[in-house]
Amino acid sequence: MATTAKAEIEGLSPELRAKMALALDVDDLVEAVRLARRLSPWFGVAKVGLELYTAAGPDAVGTMLDNGFDVFLDLKMHDIPTTVGKAASVCGALGAKYLTMHAHGGPDMLKAGVEGLHLGARNAGLEEPVAVAITVLTSDADAPDHIVPNRLRVAVEAGCGGIVCSARHLKDARELSPRTMRVVPGIRPAGADAHDQPNPVTPAEALAEGADLLVIGRAVTLADDPAAAAAELFGPLDSRTT
Ligand code: C5P
Repeated sequence: MATTAKAEIEGLSPELRAKMALALDVDDLVEAVRLARRLSPWFGVAKVGLELYTAAGPDAVGTMLDNGFDVFLDLKMHDIPTTVGKAASVCGALGAKYLTMHAHGGPDMLKAGVEGLHLGARNAGLEEPVAVAITVLTSDADAPDHIVPNRLRVAVEAGCGGIVCSARHLKDARELSPRTMRVVPGIRPAGADAHDQPNPVTPAEALAEGADLLVIGRAVTLADDPAAAAAELFGPLDSRTT
């Protein structure tokens, strides 16, 4: 209980906080800001996904930056290379630190996305962002196991600095490309409701397996008291690592 109380007051260390991305899967920017501010002791990264971006557009990115968060722009791009390149360039100029694109889109599309993203940021005088390739969606239950390593190779060759994969693929990813950033969704406290995540893991498990960025949504955002849920989720982690 003492660790939970400590986490409740102090949140996570800066190093751990930078590894936690809060999935702001809501359709209202005011609600997103309220959630993000309330949970800022634990989360250094705001994930703006399709729902919030469709509702609020680029303002969602600017508002999260203004509130001191790094932005993970989860638009899961998949289109012809020219279109992805141009759209990624806009995302770079907006100040997103991470941008997702589907590895399924192939090497030319990924390469165009990476180059566009970097160019957009460079022209705006911003630090180089990270293009993050989605390997497989966790909802794609039929995807064969070898597809993750294959897509990882394609992504790395195209210049992506990161991938999204489930926790069970972390070992393969670590071995195949140690310097590629590994982003992992499907995080839950032990024994909690998994929602539609097939193989949830705790934050401590994901970090121990080599995750660099943890995407966390409903385990905290759907709780009656999101801050208490975050304190509980990260409590064991806090006592393990500080
Ligand atoms: O399950 P949770 O709400 O923590 O999900 C957070 C993020 O994980 C979502 O924003 C979505 O991008 C991703 N997700 C996923 N596979 C699912 C459900 C959600 O990768 N089955």
